Amino acid sequence: MSTAISPTAYNYKVVRQFAIMTVVWGILGMGLGVFIASQLVWPELNFGLPWTSFGRLRPLHTNLVIFAFGGCALFATSYYVVQRTCQTRLISDSLAAFTFWGWQAVIVGAIVTLPLGYTTTKEYAELEWPLAILLAIVWVTYGLVFFGTITKRKTKHIYVGNWFYGAFIVVTAMLHIVNHASLPVSFFKSYSAYAGATDAMIQWWYGHNAVGFFLTTGFLGMMYYFVPKQAERPIYSYRLSIVHFWALITLYIWAGPHHLHYTALPDWAQSLGMAMSIILLAPSWGGMINGMMTLSGAWHKLRTDPILRFLVVSLAFYGMSTFEGPMMAIKTVNSLSHYTDWTIGHVHAGALGWVAMISIGAIYHMIPKLFGRAQMHSTGLINTHFWLATIGTVLYIASMWVNGITQGLMWRAINDDGTLTYSFVEALQASHPGFIVRALGGAFFASGMLFMAYNVFRTVRASNPAEAKAAEQIAVVGAH
Ligand code: HEM
Ligand code: HEM
Repeated sequence: MSTAISPTAYNYKVVRQFAIMTVVWGILGMGLGVFIASQLVWPELNFGLPWTSFGRLRPLHTNLVIFAFGGCALFATSYYVVQRTCQTRLISDSLAAFTFWGWQAVIVGAIVTLPLGYTTTKEYAELEWPLAILLAIVWVTYGLVFFGTITKRKTKHIYVGNWFYGAFIVVTAMLHIVNHASLPVSFFKSYSAYAGATDAMIQWWYGHNAVGFFLTTGFLGMMYYFVPKQAERPIYSYRLSIVHFWALITLYIWAGPHHLHYTALPDWAQSLGMAMSIILLAPSWGGMINGMMTLSGAWHKLRTDPILRFLVVSLAFYGMSTFEGPMMAIKTVNSLSHYTDWTIGHVHAGALGWVAMISIGAIYHMIPKLFGRAQMHSTGLINTHFWLATIGTVLYIASMWVNGITQGLMWRAINDDGTLTYSFVEALQASHPGFIVRALGGAFFASGMLFMAYNVFRTVRASNPAEAKAAEQIAVVGAH
């Protein structure tokens, strides 16, 4: 492998690698999602073994979809966007290659250790300390490659998409390192450096900002590049994008306590988290409107372009989940929704509707360009994928709303004498139809990913090395 840096060509190799792995991990992570959703319908699927039990596979699902699928999509798109908007090659090929192989190693580590039961028990931060350290090293290297590339840009200003990617990289490093501070007692076991309510607060400061910066800010970077590109329109308002950026990153960081309502956390901290979450609606919708309005004059393209449909529908789900989130952060609403499937529905409105849909749209946009092809092998298959994904998401969310509200109301129902009206098992029985619909919705969504894999495979196979090489050349003038 050559590590010489050609000043006239982009490093697309690492982008291609991350883009392909996005599809691979997407299939595995979502396939596992369908499997654990099926375990909730047919408990026999736990097979009576610890390694295949719901409790161990659930964190593997979250790690695979967030860090493997979402992470690879973020690496791929950020490396693509930063090079094209800065009109320059990544600062170092070998460091970029290290981030690719290092990241895959972390994921393989998760696939091995989580089913074996090695876990810190902190949600979304389950990986034990050796893997957490590797992750931190890879992440810092990612920061060096990304910001190093920005410093050698040929363009005067830094395109707004890079601001969002940059904030996502910096804040994720900060969250990961602070939350993972721990005392190792063996190779596979460590204890958190924090205790009690402080530990919980740090964990949900991490957890919520994993949502805010990993699952939102990075993907907004994607939105600011791929929506205008696919719509072939400039971003609706550059000024709004700057206000959006500063408002979003200033507010998100305070909202964590809404995960700890009615706990031992001081009441003022809970109320602060609630207030900040409600204010967060404004920048969230400002960003969504900026993306949507970029289509002004280009709406007709939605009739023929399923890639644009993925991008626009992802914004609609982003708007929906960022309306729902602030409502769920209100303490009285949270007293009903917390612990129920409503939260799970909210999560997947964001995860499937927003994160996965925008990533899928961005990957479909990039693949032909990375391999020197005019377009994807089949537009019809992208369209099929679009409908499977949309119907799958709607089935998932709707069934979880019904389940969540049913559970919340059944759990709080009391008789005149103060005893509970329903036993827990009765609420579980009432949830069973919703579990079936959710598993069906998940199967729709995951099967769409198989169409994507086939389409990507055919597109890549049709490309020859000369075409792929030609695609890497940096255009001297013109748009990014
Ligand atoms: C085919 C698609 C998917 C299916 C069928 C699926 C299914 C599930 C199931 C059954 C759970 C456990 C729910 C429970 O404990 O009651 C879960 C949790 C979770 N999933 Fe998915 N999932 C899918 C895709 C995704 C994607 C793409 C993401 C992220 C980008 C994601 C993120 C999460 C998260 C964060 C949780 C934990 C939620 C919480 O603790 O509140 N999922 N998923
Ligand atoms: C303004 C934006 C948002 C606000 C204020 C918000 C608020 C909330 C609230 C109040 C909860 C429930 C906490 C609980 O009862 O335990 C929650 C859970 C969650 N939200 Fe959001 N949300 C927002 C946007 C999003 C988006 C866009 C995503 C995904 C991409 C997302 C992912 C999650 C996840 C993964 C959880 C579950 C955490 C857990 O318990 O494991 N949220 N959110």
